[in-house]
Amino acid sequence: MSQQLKEQLVEYDAYTGRVHKPPRHVFVELSSRCNLACVHCPKDFGTELDHPKLDMPLHVLRAASPWLQQAHFVNLNSIGESLLSEHFDEALAICSKGSAEVSFNTNGLLLSEARCRHIVASKVHSVTISIDGIESNEPIRGASYETIKTRLIRLAEAKRNTGSTLPHIAVAFTLMRRNAEELPRLAADLVKAADLHAIHVQPLVIYYEALRQENPYGDPVAIAAAREARRITEAAGSHFV
Ligand SMILES: C[S@@+](CC[C@H](N)C(=O)[O-])C[C@H]1O[C@@H](n2cnc3c(N)ncnc32)[C@H](O)[C@@H]1O
Ligand code: SF4
Repeated sequence: MSQQLKEQLVEYDAYTGRVHKPPRHVFVELSSRCNLACVHCPKDFGTELDHPKLDMPLHVLRAASPWLQQAHFVNLNSIGESLLSEHFDEALAICSKGSAEVSFNTNGLLLSEARCRHIVASKVHSVTISIDGIESNEPIRGASYETIKTRLIRLAEAKRNTGSTLPHIAVAFTLMRRNAEELPRLAADLVKAADLHAIHVQPLVIYYEALRQENPYGDPVAIAAAREARRITEAAGSHFV
């Protein structure tokens, strides 16, 4: 995108900061709870204070419904695990009422067959499942690679069974020194099997000093692994971002 002025993107009053139009992109934290405790996650914001463990009440979503319906994109999570929300199906219905592309990231654990069918039927635009390696997934995320791969394939099958083109299924991989070497093998194993639209590689953000040694920036092994994974992913017709 060419360089644009803020005024060209947002209609707002520069004097008061008041925005005249509803937001185009809305992030809704359906649940701040999680059923995993990944080593790198900022879920507790790195503080000793416990992170609030709450689901967003439906009345809040209903109140935001006019905005949700006019948004271009609605994400059902930021930090927590949205599939844990006891209101997930109702929340999805509220967020899907307008024309927004509805998407979310998940650790994948709660993708049951019924839930996968519901996600496909609700025309969710994209579901991104986090996997941080083959051998490394369990030590980093607390769930085995095979467990999450089963969920990914379940979602791909639910999509295939209805002939739907949605949701776009993606994998999010947090690149660290310890798991970099596994990335090309993971791409080769999943891109076709799970009908992946994309693999998103996110370099580790260091929230905890103990993980500083995992910084992938400038690491030749990590750079070579990302190049090879890109080659494999793109050769299969999928995106590597
Ligand atoms: C915080 S999670 C929330 C959604 C969901 N629970 C999940 O794991 O996909 C969103 C994404 O952030 C990634 N993530 C967590 N900690 C990170 C870190 N320190 N650096 C980069 N990405 C991180 C996760 O792996 C996941 O792909
Ligand atoms: S599953 Fe997602 S929210 Fe939960 S701890 Fe892992 S990265 Fe954080």
